[in-house]
Amino acid sequence: MNDKPTINYGLEGIYVDESSISKVDGQNGKLWYRGYAIEELARQSNFEEVTYLLLKGRLPSRKEYDDFTKKLKERRELPGDIKDLIRKMAPTAHPMDVMRTAASMLVMFDNDPSNREGDETTEKVISLVAKLPTIAAATGRFREKKDYIPPDNNLGHSANFLYMLTGNKPNEFESKLIDLMFILHAEHSTNASTFSVLVTASTLADIYSATTTGIGTLKGPLHGGADEAALSMMNAIGDPSNTEKYIEEALEGKKRIMGFGHRVYKTYDPRAKIVRSYLEESLTKEPSDEVKRLLQIALIAEKMMIDKLGKTKGIWPNIDFFAGPLYRVLGIDSHLFTPIFVASRMSGWGAHIIEYWQNNKLVRPLEWYTGSLDLPYVPMNNR
Ligand SMILES: CC(C)(COP(=O)(O)OP(=O)(O)OC[C@H]1O[C@@H](n2cnc3c(N)ncnc32)[C@H](O)[C@@H]1OP(=O)(O)O)[C@@H](O)C(=O)NCCC(=O)NCCS
Repeated sequence: MNDKPTINYGLEGIYVDESSISKVDGQNGKLWYRGYAIEELARQSNFEEVTYLLLKGRLPSRKEYDDFTKKLKERRELPGDIKDLIRKMAPTAHPMDVMRTAASMLVMFDNDPSNREGDETTEKVISLVAKLPTIAAATGRFREKKDYIPPDNNLGHSANFLYMLTGNKPNEFESKLIDLMFILHAEHSTNASTFSVLVTASTLADIYSATTTGIGTLKGPLHGGADEAALSMMNAIGDPSNTEKYIEEALEGKKRIMGFGHRVYKTYDPRAKIVRSYLEESLTKEPSDEVKRLLQIALIAEKMMIDKLGKTKGIWPNIDFFAGPLYRVLGIDSHLFTPIFVASRMSGWGAHIIEYWQNNKLVRPLEWYTGSLDLPYVPMNNR
């Protein structure tokens, strides 16, 4: 027998590729998309421009931006069969299951899904980026037995999503909040879902298969599903005065506090800081009692966790902790948090697929076998 190799469980600490898409500096709590600091993009850019940046590697000129946003708008609408599928599934299935199935069905409306020639992959990514918010919004509407709202091409990408979901045209602040969440979730290097997308893409399966894989991976509460799980914890806490007791007991019971900790960030997630600052700003704009209560709970929990685990174990708030309260400012139901993450992360997934296919290599890691060898086969009747 050979000596057992070092096994990096969860691929922790393993480099799987080179990439120029984003850099996460986990020690210093910094994040850049294509070299631009996330704080700058959150403050000055918008989701359409960020998507262009991720997919093409540079910021667009005015003309490139206009052409790109026009294309996104033209592709927002869904085929009727997909709306029918969503209508059937939405009342009972979790919105992430609806999204995964509807995204998978998009392959039927592409007459050459495996074509990777020229700009074909980028074009397919743009279509997916355009349609996934419509799928998420339709899912939210049909869940509540409301009518489908078609896209409004006078609205920007994420403001239109909010409109298709709620039926109300968002004001400037609401448009900024939803766009912020789209920007902040758009990309995050080789996280679990992006890696899973690349595993599927590495087999040269089509982009719809890769996207479906990504949605399935993002669903889990240790990854994208943490935003919904964190809000559900805040609701279980109920009143801010219960927060300390709840967190103490959860930690004593070795439970994980959702929205804290990260494989790469061992300090405050820079995206969480940005979301937190906008949440504080929303308190100046007549917030609901629910939002005030959630933020109070969040701030008590944040302080406790940083005191108990931040400085000792490097467990700090991540973006998913404050995302829920911010979505509640916009009146978005918690089941739709992760679908919004999908709609946004499609840009990052797409950028990685485009990059990976330039130098494709089938993903095939090894595992160390610990079972038996050469066992005698006993026919079934003799067992
Ligand atoms: C994200 C996450 C999976 C990363 O974890 P990881 O790098 O694999 O680290 P581990 O799971 O090995 O945890 C290391 C230690 O920290 C503890 N820990 C990690 N996250 C914790 C959390 N959110 N609450 C309480 N303890 C936590 C673990 O219990 C473990 O403690 P131990 O050493 O005493 O056994 C983890 O922090 C987590 O489960 N967080 C909650 C889910 C979440 O918010 N996910 C969104 C990420 S953006």
